[in-house]
Amino acid sequence: MNIAILISGRGSNMVALIDAVRSGEIPGSEIAVVISDKPNAAGLEKARERNISTVVIERRGRTREEHDAEIIAELKRRDVELVCLAGYMRLLSCDFVNAFPDRIINIHPSLLPAFPGLDAQRQALEHGVKISGCTVHFVNEALDAGPIILQRTVEVRNDDTLESLSARILEQEHLAYVEAVRRLVTEKSKQTTGRT
Ligand code: GRF
Repeated sequence: MNIAILISGRGSNMVALIDAVRSGEIPGSEIAVVISDKPNAAGLEKARERNISTVVIERRGRTREEHDAEIIAELKRRDVELVCLAGYMRLLSCDFVNAFPDRIINIHPSLLPAFPGLDAQRQALEHGVKISGCTVHFVNEALDAGPIILQRTVEVRNDDTLESLSARILEQEHLAYVEAVRRLVTEKSKQTTGRT
């Protein structure tokens, strides 16, 4: 399966996916391209170091639809079959979602539907929840709202800071994202070969 990863920043989930494909933990797949909407995203360099093709597609004052159309064209050109959002900080247009039905997934640092949007870890701390975690879900046009694929939990400790909680959730994010992609790739290959 040809996978694309969309980023806007650090790219640690992207690295987890690239490494899992390389090590065979996600079998039968390839990272076709990493696309960033930010030319200075730190993840771009990490992808290049790993010999992955990178493309920067900036919004440049265009409408969301125009920007997404350029990204869709790039993904189609590379025969991408699964789009993984990994810290990609933009809502997708309907056109984008419809171009890859059930083939766009995202990772979010909370147990959705709790704490969607920005600063999920801060929201969890402020609400005083005792358990948080991360969610991998299918993407629709709404923010952090599509069907859930899998979740991993993290205990919130009394002495947690934003940094300590975020770091422990991030460790679980990397495991969750790899496991979710592995499942989707495996299901697809069963469908293709007709195995049950
Ligand atoms: C992660 O916490 C992810 O859940 C959220 O954005 C952050 C991206 O981190 N959507 P990274 O760029 O993968 O390191």
